[in-house]
Amino acid sequence: MNYKEALQHSIFKIISQSAEELQLDSFVIGGFVRDFLLKRGHAKDIDIVAIGDGIKLAKQVAKNLPDKPKVQVFKTYGTAMLRHDDIEIEFVGARKESYTEDSRNPFVENGTLEDDQNRRDFTINALALNLSKDSFGELLDPFKGIEDLENKIIKTPLAPDITYSDDPLRMLRAIRFATQLDFTIEEKSLEAISNNSHRIEIITNERIVTELNKILESKKPSKGFLLLEKAGLLQYFLPEITDLKGIDEVEGQRHKDNFYHTLEVVDNISKKTNNLWLRWAALLHDIGKAPTKKFNKKVGWTFHGHEFEGSKMVYKLFKRLKMPLNDKMKFVQKMVFMSSRPIVLADDIATDSAVRRLVFDAGDYVDDLMTLCEADITTKNPKKFNKYHNNFKIVRDKIIEVEERDHVRNFQPPVSGEEIMAAFNLKPSREIGIIKETIKEAILEGDIPNEYDAAYKLMLEKGKKLGLINEKG
Ligand code: CTP
Repeated sequence: MNYKEALQHSIFKIISQSAEELQLDSFVIGGFVRDFLLKRGHAKDIDIVAIGDGIKLAKQVAKNLPDKPKVQVFKTYGTAMLRHDDIEIEFVGARKESYTEDSRNPFVENGTLEDDQNRRDFTINALALNLSKDSFGELLDPFKGIEDLENKIIKTPLAPDITYSDDPLRMLRAIRFATQLDFTIEEKSLEAISNNSHRIEIITNERIVTELNKILESKKPSKGFLLLEKAGLLQYFLPEITDLKGIDEVEGQRHKDNFYHTLEVVDNISKKTNNLWLRWAALLHDIGKAPTKKFNKKVGWTFHGHEFEGSKMVYKLFKRLKMPLNDKMKFVQKMVFMSSRPIVLADDIATDSAVRRLVFDAGDYVDDLMTLCEADITTKNPKKFNKYHNNFKIVRDKIIEVEERDHVRNFQPPVSGEEIMAAFNLKPSREIGIIKETIKEAILEGDIPNEYDAAYKLMLEKGKKLGLINEKG
């Protein structure tokens, strides 16, 4: 079969020409070919295999390109990379590889195209298109990768035990591809992943998080997390999530399985937002429930303070997985910490002051918080489901109304500390804090509007009650 149409970009002709100048064969392989056949759109990465010296080929290509890009050489791996037209092109010489037990770094020997295809992770990633002039666009598919693409199956070219133990990251890649592409992992491959799951320990946290993010960015992330759990991988890097599994029963009282509930919330939110960090927040919103779970004869199962506990766990989890400890982490923490707030409002018709307090506390994150809480409604009782959603709709409308009127989203006190000091001729003191708090409370309660004059008047009244003297009268 010929797929010339995949190779319309001028770069392929240049690579072909350069390879001919060096008298070697070259192929485009991997994700580019797979995504072309799946019609997944334009790839930003192109992987080239040379039957010979890949680094030399990269240099020749750079020389033949009008913009003469810089070639980055990775000597230890025998690879080279250059950027052209916003595309990253990676060159490697075809090789036979075997890996050491305790590391992902391979011993490398030169090999044929077939050797190279053999050592790739999946049959669908081993598809290659010939770039030689005479056979330009010809497909090389020794492992029936095309068939597996059509049948939506993830299979390894070699026996799965070999492929996965050669590079345990592939266990996560298998699950990630299955989730992204909605493919099935071949049964014996899944078994091999379960058997080799402990080997995930040699993979760095950064690489694990890259795969986790890709799973979370998929249309239905639960597919990936269920597979990770089933294969025994999830417990190695997200024990907080596997700890949510299971239902306890005491005296006939049960609580819901928070693992499956969490996955439902993640799927729900993924239909509403592509914000990765909001998806993380959905994944982590209940992690505080495992350590705070208690049984009480009168009220049944409780998870008191799980939001606060959960938000502290977010920090530890991000730190352990070497995720960013920046505003993204703080955002996730805040979402987890506030995740139960709106549901209290949804039980009944929310008062203006309750909504105002929500906006005050959540600030710019209030819309994301509402999105999380709507996703959190997983009740199978249609009456309750509709009631919560309708009430949340009312809360959303009220948020807009209250915000237009009171501007508490990024609250700034209408009367400053300096003004209070000047009015009562005070030095910095406790009274200033009391007056400021009184004004803020009155605004949030709706007793006074969020305006200077009303706030100044209240300041004078409160000052008087505190026995302070206003010099101007
Ligand atoms: N590969 C492999 N084993 C790995 C990583 C990569 O065999 N652990 C091979 C596969 O043939 C893969 C190619 O290297 O297709 C390129 O890898 P990469 O760029 O990481 O992935 P893509 O398949 O291009 O897919 P994506 O961009 O979605 O990660």
